[in-house]
Amino acid sequence: MTGLDLAQQKMRDAGVPAAAVDVFTRFYGLLESGSTGIVRESDVDPLADVPHLDDLEVDDAAAADALARTAVIKLNGGLGTSMGMDRAKSLLPVRGSRTFLDVTADQVLAAREATGARLPLVLMNSFRTRDDSLAALAAYPQLAVDGVPLDFLQNREPKLLVDGLTPVAWDADPTLEWCPPGHGDLYPALYASGVLDALLAAGFRYASVSNSDNLGATPDARVAGWFAASGAPFAAEVARRTPADRKGGHLVVRRSDGRIVLRESAQTAPEDADAAADIATHAYFNTNNLWLDLEALSAELERTGGVLDLPLIRNEKHVDPTDRTSPKVVQVESAMGAAIEVFDGAAVLEVGRERFLPVKTTNDLLVLRSDVYAEDDAHRLVAVVDAPFVDLDPAHYALVGEFDTRVPHVPSLRGATSLRVRGDWSLGRGVAVVGDAELTGEGGTVPDGATLVADVSADAVRA
Ligand code: UTP
Repeated sequence: MTGLDLAQQKMRDAGVPAAAVDVFTRFYGLLESGSTGIVRESDVDPLADVPHLDDLEVDDAAAADALARTAVIKLNGGLGTSMGMDRAKSLLPVRGSRTFLDVTADQVLAAREATGARLPLVLMNSFRTRDDSLAALAAYPQLAVDGVPLDFLQNREPKLLVDGLTPVAWDADPTLEWCPPGHGDLYPALYASGVLDALLAAGFRYASVSNSDNLGATPDARVAGWFAASGAPFAAEVARRTPADRKGGHLVVRRSDGRIVLRESAQTAPEDADAAADIATHAYFNTNNLWLDLEALSAELERTGGVLDLPLIRNEKHVDPTDRTSPKVVQVESAMGAAIEVFDGAAVLEVGRERFLPVKTTNDLLVLRSDVYAEDDAHRLVAVVDAPFVDLDPAHYALVGEFDTRVPHVPSLRGATSLRVRGDWSLGRGVAVVGDAELTGEGGTVPDGATLVADVSADAVRA
């Protein structure tokens, strides 16, 4: 049996729906063929003439009407493996003891109160995130909206050994043999679960979709009003790339058909690397805050049998994300934002960084937990100062468990420009970071109430 046969067999034995096996089979073929999905610089133009949210003239009544027909979908199926997690990142505490999910629920409830919109909150969960996420949301019975479920489940697929692309066996915890297939699974999962139909039947025409770790993506009537008036089937909120985003993916316009395309770094040819990294030319990246016209999506999915032809993402991880010595596996994934090329007339809107507060690393988590942010009446996180650049020693803080043990009390970062830590340091209570602070040496304990400033050597802290 080939690797593909074994993987298909495993999926069927586990009762994975045939449509999901078909999607996986298409991606496996791309994986075997070494498909890179390269988007050549000579075939594209930079994305230009992007309207900015702050400059839009949106009629208040039209905005309110659009929001009244909008559902909020949060992608919650990922496992935060980059931070060594094997459950939803959204269950991590982020503001005191409140988790991302708590803050999101508060944001939705506050927006409902302010606008009168029904605003259902719908999670896309995976087999690993569903039970505990729904249990957490049970604290908010008022979130339920008639006719709309609180979540839908995405598919699962076998992790493949890097060596030979066969399904991995992991007796210590067989659930770790499986992974969700990336957030591009949104479309087949929305369709197959019946939630797309349920939303339409309940009178919802639009969906505002975003990552559950992005607390910047709050329900916004002006964006909803703009999207509805645009008549576009699909829109992406984009933000300006900064030097820190030079290496990342960005949006380009394909010359052959004028469609907007997401070009990830892995889809850039080596000889185009400089051009792709030129943030003056390719100025925008995708925040993964998307707007979907559910009628247009439904029509497209009906036409294609529930599948969108998205490019493959080959993601290498450890089978046990908390164990860096466990075997390396490939996860076959796709990205939700890549669907922008599927829709004729897809639109983009530039938004400020306040709508993009991703937590990919414990560095991000530390800043978001800190006093750099305050929460306003709408439960939006508002940066009170420019966020400092945080760089914690990957050897000791990369996994969220390690991080939480060493940083049980969030230091004050309000006066910090940057914080760099090398070595195994634990922070006491009430520590303040000021200016460009650096903590080096082997490690130790930073005492309660200490102030970290420039060039704090290990000895100075111990003293
Ligand atoms: P990320 O790209 O941050 O992935 O997902 P992740 O799974 O949270 O983290 P890593 O890569 O394993 O470290 C962006 C958003 O998409 C969701 C995540 O829950 C997050 O909100 N997502 C990701 C899904 O809903 N399903 C997936 O299969 C993958």
